[in-house]
Amino acid sequence: MKLWGGRFTKDTDSLVEDFHSSISFDKRLYRQDIRGSMAHARMLGETGIIAREDAENIIRGLQQILADLEAGRGELSVHAEDIHMNVEQLLIERVGEVGKKLHTARSRNDQVALDTRMFLKEEIVEISELLIKTQQALVELAEQHTDTVMPGYTHLQKAQPITFAHHLMAYFEMFQRDWQRLRDCYGRTDVCPLGSGALAGTTFPIDREMVAEELGFNRISTNSLDGVSDRDYVIEFAAAASLIMTHLSRLCEEIILWASDEFSFINLDDAYSTGSSIMPQKKNPDVAELVRGKSGRVYGHLMALLTMVKGLPLAYNKDLQEDKEALFDIIDTVKKSLLVFAPMIATITVNTGRMYQGAGGGFTNATDVADYLVNKGMGFRDAHRIVGELVFYAIEQEKELEKLTLAEYRQFADMFEEDIFQAIAISTCVERRNVPGGPAPVRVKEAVAQAKVVMETN
Ligand code: ARG
Repeated sequence: MKLWGGRFTKDTDSLVEDFHSSISFDKRLYRQDIRGSMAHARMLGETGIIAREDAENIIRGLQQILADLEAGRGELSVHAEDIHMNVEQLLIERVGEVGKKLHTARSRNDQVALDTRMFLKEEIVEISELLIKTQQALVELAEQHTDTVMPGYTHLQKAQPITFAHHLMAYFEMFQRDWQRLRDCYGRTDVCPLGSGALAGTTFPIDREMVAEELGFNRISTNSLDGVSDRDYVIEFAAAASLIMTHLSRLCEEIILWASDEFSFINLDDAYSTGSSIMPQKKNPDVAELVRGKSGRVYGHLMALLTMVKGLPLAYNKDLQEDKEALFDIIDTVKKSLLVFAPMIATITVNTGRMYQGAGGGFTNATDVADYLVNKGMGFRDAHRIVGELVFYAIEQEKELEKLTLAEYRQFADMFEEDIFQAIAISTCVERRNVPGGPAPVRVKEAVAQAKVVMETN
């Protein structure tokens, strides 16, 4: 007999039972469900809604069920539909009649919202810590490469020389914003919906604040309809997770490029690479590829969640049960990705010679030639045109800008003097880009120091 079977004269069709049952996945919420039930039972006893002794018996029974489930004992059944009814059924089997009082002044609708919020709060904390580990790996690598010059790109065409640390620290910034987004999302998840009932609260004189406090919530929700039908916090988390995956994916793409023979900027550690079943020479950046690939499934879940909610009338609808598999998979994917990502970064070796060599080719100092003329008094637009012509000439001569003679320079502008060669040396080009937020070694050293302070306070 179902816990809700009174009104029914027939058994549920077995296909339907299998179709609507969520125990196969929402069993993951058993801890939160039982802790929530304990707090609810305690409150029912304290407020005199049920006898204090009954509340104590219920809590004791729940403690035993929790211990059983932790130890891998305790049968969860598809017939009981979901984790909430499974726990209630186990309770009634264990403590008898008194167990039937637990669900007083409560609905599964506010219960599932409670469990999911409790669960997500814990996961956000864990993911935030993994993000900081990723930041630490980036900062440590950056610290070793504040003087390592590499080409910076736009359109994947060589643009201007930068430092490798500066490139890495750009990702530190992205992950810092991701961390802040998670913190903000935590704040909106940290709201206790219990007491919303099925949709319209309850007639019993419950103490919502007491439950919220015992369960460590910052506050209680303020509208019962919203309390049971809101899934913003799940969607918001999915969006924040999607951005984490985006940032990981972009860096993965670069790592894959840098590890290619054409770039040869970095080597990935053997422990974070894999081989080919046919080509003996291969060492593939599979970890980076897989993280890049997994971003797609997280975006997919975000779309699924948005679509699930958009047409729902208030308040609870069974569609909302679909939030859990998406949420769980997002959490697992982001955690696994971050977990392998940090050590992959930490074990990268850098081919500084290749990076420096790359920074020199492709006329990356052309802007510096123009800036030189501006410093001698020319308007930037004229300087830009003249250096464009100079580059065209250098391409025809098959020479780099630093290999042209002073006489050749003077064919384009008589402002050029011997100091042009010093002004366009690659090291000068990087060192002089020392505006706040710039790639010059002095600035990047500051950025690294600042990042360490930020991570301490995160
Ligand atoms: N398993 C359900 C869910 O995940 C719990 C709430 C069910 N409520 C209901 N009235 N059917 O959303």
